[in-house]
Amino acid sequence: MATYNLNVNNEKHTVQADADTPLLWVLRDHINLVGTKYGCGIGQCGACTVHVDGNAMRSCLLPVSQAVGMKITTIEGLSEHGGHPVQQAWKEIDVPQCGYCQSGQIMTASAFLSQNSNPSSSEIRSAMHGNICRCASYNSIEKAVKVAAE
Ligand code: FES
Repeated sequence: MATYNLNVNNEKHTVQADADTPLLWVLRDHINLVGTKYGCGIGQCGACTVHVDGNAMRSCLLPVSQAVGMKITTIEGLSEHGGHPVQQAWKEIDVPQCGYCQSGQIMTASAFLSQNSNPSSSEIRSAMHGNICRCASYNSIEKAVKVAAE
């Protein structure tokens, strides 16, 4: 066990954990930010996606010891009251079905749009293809990313 100081959603959090504890579990179990979901634990589904220094990253693959000094943003910190354009578009298109994967989808989409504000359909599909949706809402997700980019 060691002590780690993390910057999560612009707040400092001090946690005690083993060095190789995945950031996902530190966020959920130590900091109580449960919007970041566990899907597979092996980097294959995207449910656990957060922003690390502005880039979409799978928190199940990032050991807490490597997250020190980085700016971590979770779905809870993406915007005040769900006001981010991607969150607004998600509501407008009514994307979620079961909803489980949606925070990861939104975090991937928002990081992608911050780097490409006018993406083509194929760029959207390529950016989002690693985020699995068990309800197969892929058409709605693509549509919402387009709306968010407008
Ligand atoms: Fe991290 Fe699936 S839980 S990619």
